[in-house]
Amino acid sequence: MDLGVAGKTVIVTGGGSNIGRAISLTLAGAGMNVVIADIMEDAAQKVADKIVADGGKASVIKTDVTNFDSVQAMVDKAIADNGGVDVLVNNVGWTYDRFFLEKPLEEYDKEINLNLKSNIYCNRAILPHFIEKKAGKVVNISSDAGRMGEFREAVYGACKAGVIALSKSLTREYSRNNITFNCICPGATIPMNDDEVSSISIFSEEGFGKGITQEKIPEEQRAKMSKAYPIGRMGTNIDIAKAVLFYASTLSDYITGQTMSVSGGYSMVD
Ligand SMILES: NC(=O)c1ccc[n+]([C@@H]2O[C@H](COP(=O)([O-])OP(=O)(O)OC[C@H]3O[C@@H](n4cnc5c(N)ncnc54)[C@H](O)[C@@H]3O)[C@@H](O)[C@H]2O)c1
Repeated sequence: MDLGVAGKTVIVTGGGSNIGRAISLTLAGAGMNVVIADIMEDAAQKVADKIVADGGKASVIKTDVTNFDSVQAMVDKAIADNGGVDVLVNNVGWTYDRFFLEKPLEEYDKEINLNLKSNIYCNRAILPHFIEKKAGKVVNISSDAGRMGEFREAVYGACKAGVIALSKSLTREYSRNNITFNCICPGATIPMNDDEVSSISIFSEEGFGKGITQEKIPEEQRAKMSKAYPIGRMGTNIDIAKAVLFYASTLSDYITGQTMSVSGGYSMVD
């Protein structure tokens, strides 16, 4: 089946690690030209090198998605280098799990910048281009924390709910220009093996289980955690990437403003 993505250009923010890495590899595998926009240039380059070694097309633009000038420069370069951009995947996000009252104030700011402001900036930078060509797809990586609320993720969850609300409002304003905006909400998503973990991370010990792979979680604990998921296992970055491919493809042309959990049935939201 033709997914209508071959030869199209996609920007993946944060494509150098875990979920973004899997998204980049999966979309490249489907024939897309992948532009990885990541602050960790080396990690992103490793992903691009792998794509090219596998016969695909990829490039890296060092970007800080919390800085609008950096985002606009990245979008302009991606458009100029590739003759346009067809899909934007807003994947960068971050949290450090702590109870609301235990978080230092600066950590709130970091979460707001990385999860919400980054998304606003990337949409702002790409939309004039999508409107001009009357085509575009935006895929936002939100989180179940933004739909259900989660212990120790109050501000992060608020930002991810903000991403969903932004996406719905942009749908009302701009989907008439043949632009779709959809959100994917991963549950806890852990890479399958060391190869799937970025060896370099600006957050090192912090963030989403950095350095933890499914194999490194003791069998007993993994079995216990898996029980929380109706499907019987925890999510992987590849599970998320497959859903992104759907929203990047022509299969989803008439779907916009939607939010989909990819969490093995952990969260069932009407
Ligand atoms: N991993 C999970 O369990 C999980 C669960 C729910 C939602 N999510 C969401 O999925 C997305 C990806 O999560 P992940 O676990 O793969 O994250 P990660 O920390 O492994 O990767 C994030 C990537 O973003 C890059 N990055 C960080 N700051 C940046 C900046 N300022 N500018 C540009 N790039 C920057 C990093 O270098 C890294 O490559 C996030 O939006 C996250 O909120 C993850």
